[in-house]
Amino acid sequence: MPDPIPAAGLSRRRFLALTGAAAGSTLVRVAAAGGVAAAGVGLIAGRDAQGLPAFVQPLRPLEVLTDSDITLVAAQTHVQLLPGAPTRMWTFNGSFPGPLIRRPSGQSTRVTVLNRLPEDAGTLSIHHHGGHSRSSEDGLPGFDPIPVGAQRTYTYELVEDGAPERGALQWYHDHTHLRTSKNTWMGLAGLFLLEDGEDAALGLPTGERDIPLLLAERSFDAGNQLTEPYFLYDEHLAPGAGAGHAPDDDVIGNRVVVNGVLEPYLDVRPAVYRFRVLNASHFRPYELRLTTGQEMTLVGTESGLLPEPVMLDRVLVGPAERVELLVDLTGLAGQRLRLVSRNQGPGAGLLPATAAPNLDLLELRVAAAAPVVVAPTPAALRPLPTWAAEVSSTPDRMWVFGLGVDPQGRTAWTVNGRAFDHERVDARPELDAVETWAFVNASPGGKSHYVHIHDVDWLVVQRNGGSPEAVEGGLKETFRLDPGEVLLVASKFTDHLGPYMIHCHMMEHEDHGMMATWEVVPPGSGDALPPGASLLDVLVRDVPDARVRAQTLGVLAAAVGGRPAPRRLLEQLEFDVLGGAAAGGGAAAHIHQ
Ligand code: C2O
Ligand code: CU
Repeated sequence: MPDPIPAAGLSRRRFLALTGAAAGSTLVRVAAAGGVAAAGVGLIAGRDAQGLPAFVQPLRPLEVLTDSDITLVAAQTHVQLLPGAPTRMWTFNGSFPGPLIRRPSGQSTRVTVLNRLPEDAGTLSIHHHGGHSRSSEDGLPGFDPIPVGAQRTYTYELVEDGAPERGALQWYHDHTHLRTSKNTWMGLAGLFLLEDGEDAALGLPTGERDIPLLLAERSFDAGNQLTEPYFLYDEHLAPGAGAGHAPDDDVIGNRVVVNGVLEPYLDVRPAVYRFRVLNASHFRPYELRLTTGQEMTLVGTESGLLPEPVMLDRVLVGPAERVELLVDLTGLAGQRLRLVSRNQGPGAGLLPATAAPNLDLLELRVAAAAPVVVAPTPAALRPLPTWAAEVSSTPDRMWVFGLGVDPQGRTAWTVNGRAFDHERVDARPELDAVETWAFVNASPGGKSHYVHIHDVDWLVVQRNGGSPEAVEGGLKETFRLDPGEVLLVASKFTDHLGPYMIHCHMMEHEDHGMMATWEVVPPGSGDALPPGASLLDVLVRDVPDARVRAQTLGVLAAAVGGRPAPRRLLEQLEFDVLGGAAAGGGAAAHIHQ
């Protein structure tokens, strides 16, 4: 039943990045060191490159922590990920993923993290991804890190805008400055399930039919040990050093583990199941489908339940995104099917040609038993918050994701033309304001990014001038931004003052500059432009470099211009800039002043 998996190889450059071999090594040497056949690197398949039979290990139940006081001990341990030798990792409480934290919304929760890692691991900073945490508790890179041998307690109120925070599948992971990718690759990540009463009230599957899945891509050597793709881009790397730097810093694994198990199987009943999937991989988006080709019902994304369910037969889930899928197995008694990723539809263009497009993730073995009859999925799930009605399609801010240079002169990923600097604050929205932010992908070379915003939940307002995609109907905090795309999202900055982050969640991009700090400030002290300010004013305030501004205008013009009427995106831009440009380049000249 599963699709045949074509063999594929990796380019030499990718090979080097995956195995951590220094630039200049020969392919032969790398292959020998990695113990991987040169003919085709470790593809996920019925039987993989190391000859491991697939789907022989059960999906492992995660350790679940439910107390208001939780302790996470970060230490070096060995974890059984693959059949055979265990893998040395940096874990929370000895497992990968770390324990599943399950907490009722609205109830204060304290998570104490002890850093018991080896001395050379350095400090930690733990971020509750998706949580509406106070800035001091947000695990920001460079703020109050936890040295080896020390500990700190993070307090999460789990309250938003005066009410319990919306229930959602969230997660936690290390967010150390310049070390987020390495520390997470080594294993410092886990799920955080925030529960409110909504799900039960709607009759969605619960208990053993509610399955959280953390997908994590890693590369392993012949001894089942993680490869070390990170030494190549140490922070002390000389300017201009080659492999591993932006824009050639994508880390794609040769295996995907699901809740820490390679190619697991799960015994299920002929019933409706809810799979809550987090893509915790560094770079690859998964285009999830079932080998039966049947439709699934999308009921939730990053910030919880959608207003209405969406039927689909495949769904793209990028790094840090979540999807909650109802899968109807009632007609499949006695059968086996798989949850797979095919990267052939909308996701196809996002992967380097050298990455294996076909991955089999999880086998479902349906018992030969009488079907469990359940109520149909309700047509309405969770309404949007009231601020969603106040949202404007005129951007208050611009965030341009591109490529540039850092202050040391190295090629770096940039936001608004600048690489990350934790001393700099790029935007100051006011507490309780509702703002619309525009993301623009101006990266050369056809690179997609996945933009993540801390602190609050966001509504997608427009994608390239048109309506958001059906899967973007709920609140989110991580967004696909394909090459040349322009996305408008809106939110309300409730409860907390202080600095937060916006960054690409392709973790290498984040570590290599594609991150910025914004700060919620008291009403009256922000940097909002006066009413009636033009989009050009916004661009001039947010993007200091005239060359990057010009580049941005080019992307905006193409994103708007290629669409049929009505052109809802940035009507103001057409008026202010495109009109001017068409009439003789006046506006473009203006921004060059
Ligand atoms: Cu999961 Cu700032 O990130
Ligand atoms: Cu990116």
